[in-house]
Amino acid sequence: MSEDKSFHEVVRARHSVRSFLPDPVPEPVIRAVLEDARLASSNCNTQPWEVHIASGVVRNQLSDAILAANGSGKVTPDFSFSLGDYHGVYSERSKAQGAAYHQAIGVARAAFDERRSASERNLKFFDAPHVAMLFMPVTGDCVRVAGDVGMYGQTFLLSLAAHGLGGVPQTTLGFYADTIREVLGIGPTLKLLFGISFGYPDPSHAANRYRIDRAPVEQSVSFHR
Ligand SMILES: Cc1cc2nc3c(=O)[nH]c(=O)nc-3n(C[C@H](O)[C@H](O)[C@H](O)COP(=O)(O)O)c2cc1C
Repeated sequence: MSEDKSFHEVVRARHSVRSFLPDPVPEPVIRAVLEDARLASSNCNTQPWEVHIASGVVRNQLSDAILAANGSGKVTPDFSFSLGDYHGVYSERSKAQGAAYHQAIGVARAAFDERRSASERNLKFFDAPHVAMLFMPVTGDCVRVAGDVGMYGQTFLLSLAAHGLGGVPQTTLGFYADTIREVLGIGPTLKLLFGISFGYPDPSHAANRYRIDRAPVEQSVSFHR
């Protein structure tokens, strides 16, 4: 997809890509994406995103370290995340998403080993040649800053789509925050919200042929006149 696509087309082209070609993205293209992402809005223009991108040898070291941490149970999230906290329609949507994804990649509900391997692909960055780790400073209860970093992440993802690239935001990577800080030489004051694996999508992979729909506008918007 070229940058000439309309906003409407780019928004609809973006989806979470979970299999990538090995080809690295040329640095000028990564920089163009970062030039777009930095224009995201933030509370009082504070721009509280601290982004670390790993490629090449460092990307491989990082994935190996995360896999080792996972193997030894070294799970060190900076922020909690539990699907059990979601209730009602939110829980239903999450279950529907999991079921649709596993069906698309041919993993049965009861095939626990296959489900675990599918989940571990998160830790291999779904074979992406690059991963961006979105860190943030601790500020108050962190909610405002996390919202700003989310704004940055979505702008980053849309720019990837506009450049014919793909990415997937990954809370899963945040479970290994200490390991990631250690490998990248980042101090303890920056907290990891999520990572984004990115690169050229592998069009032949089943994971990339699946799409998940959204609830209609009426389910999330109330008009007051
Ligand atoms: C903040 C955030 C964290 C996410 N974490 C993960 C993750 O760890 N692993 C994963 O496979 N997908 C992850 N996703 C992708 C969602 O599952 C995906 O955005 C959602 O199902 C909608 O699908 P779409 O992005 O293809 O439109 C995450 C998305 C967001 C916004």
